[in-house]
Amino acid sequence: MRTQVGIIGAGPAGLMLAHLLRRAGIESIIVENRSREYCEARVRAGLIEQWARDMLIETGVGERLKAEGLFHKGIKLQFDGVLHEIKFTELVGKGTTIYGQQEVVKDLIDDLLRHGVPILFEVSGTRVSDLDTKLPKIHFTHDGKAQQIECDFIGGCDGFHGICRPSVPDGKLTFYDREYPFGWLGILSESANVDEELIYSYHDRGFALYTQRSPTVSRLYFQCAPDEDAGNWTDEAIWEELRLRLGGVCPLPTGPILQKGVTPMRSFVTEPMQYGRLFLAGDSAHIVPPTGAKGMNLALADVLKLSRALAHFYKTGQHDRLDGYSAEVLPRVWKAQRFSWWMTSLLHHFPHENAFDRRRQVAELDYVATSRAAAMTLAENYAGLPID
Ligand code: FAD
Ligand code: DHB
Repeated sequence: MRTQVGIIGAGPAGLMLAHLLRRAGIESIIVENRSREYCEARVRAGLIEQWARDMLIETGVGERLKAEGLFHKGIKLQFDGVLHEIKFTELVGKGTTIYGQQEVVKDLIDDLLRHGVPILFEVSGTRVSDLDTKLPKIHFTHDGKAQQIECDFIGGCDGFHGICRPSVPDGKLTFYDREYPFGWLGILSESANVDEELIYSYHDRGFALYTQRSPTVSRLYFQCAPDEDAGNWTDEAIWEELRLRLGGVCPLPTGPILQKGVTPMRSFVTEPMQYGRLFLAGDSAHIVPPTGAKGMNLALADVLKLSRALAHFYKTGQHDRLDGYSAEVLPRVWKAQRFSWWMTSLLHHFPHENAFDRRRQVAELDYVATSRAAAMTLAENYAGLPID
């Protein structure tokens, strides 16, 4: 097979890259090691920044998002038993939208297949070669047959555990890494919404977050040990923990738990995000702890810039924008890292903290809740920094 851009991974990064390239008249093929059903059912992110919402709508894959997405004007912070509202729309004129990542994935897969962009699901043994030549290749097995795609460029959109980043020769990339001494236990439940906004709750028992997926489906998370086994938690114990940590500030409607799982927390950045004709985008190049909901948004921002650099190359034959891809996207990546680290540090219990640290966290929460300048900084980062 031959294509212009070979893409590895059918997550938000790979699918959006193929979508933006198609709109620019550039051919691509996606290879994905999971099934279509698996990709469309994987419960993960849910919060979309204002510019990303606008991009999904403007590029023709936002119809369902417009109808079903839940627009949020801000968030609520709970500390000292009181809810404090931070109104992004008043502070920075932007909001956020709750729309499950798997819904974005479904909309993109549907649109790509309707436009004839090949997505090869359930491939195995994916491997890349000739990255530093003009004809890099993707090798894999599909339908029991060994296959190869020759491309002009490869989009490495295969997530944190993918093969693209490890395929770059040793010493060509630098990694920046931080692990956190906790994880999140997350549930999806068939239960009425707790509040019209998301609630980030600071509590002596540890952090908890209330978010939602629809008026009848809620998503809740609470801080747990990094190696916690979700199977050790009965549904009753989960609801009791959430009730305690949401601080009694609001009633907590309960219901059947549809899905539960533990997410470890990590900050990670690769520099640069390219080698030869391989370009990394999304979680394959960087991950953030989920507090602040930046992961999927960063993946979308990377591929917007990458698609523009590729379009520039095909239009002019010039490499300059592709050469400058990492330098163009990394400042946003690092600002999202800083913000995610800050939100995480502000709201979680750390193992060796003392009474001073707790007082300092509460002082900072109080500052955010009472200072327009501090609230504005939170709002500007949370609703999404300008993309251009
Ligand atoms: P992925 O979604 O990981 O996609 C990579 C794809 O590549 C996968 O489909 C994988 O199967 C495929 N793949 C891997 N290896 C291979 C291979 N060898 N060959 C072929 N295919 C391969 N982000 C937000 O912005 N907002 C949020 O609210 C938010 N909440 C989150 C909550 C949780 C619990 C978690 C876990 C994450 C959350 N995130 C959030 C982060 C977000 O989900 C990720 O940042 C996002 O999925 C990154 O997209 P991606 O396309 O880069 O990677
Ligand atoms: C969601 C996840 C987050 O990590 C967050 O900060 C906000 C919302 C969500 O899954 O909806």
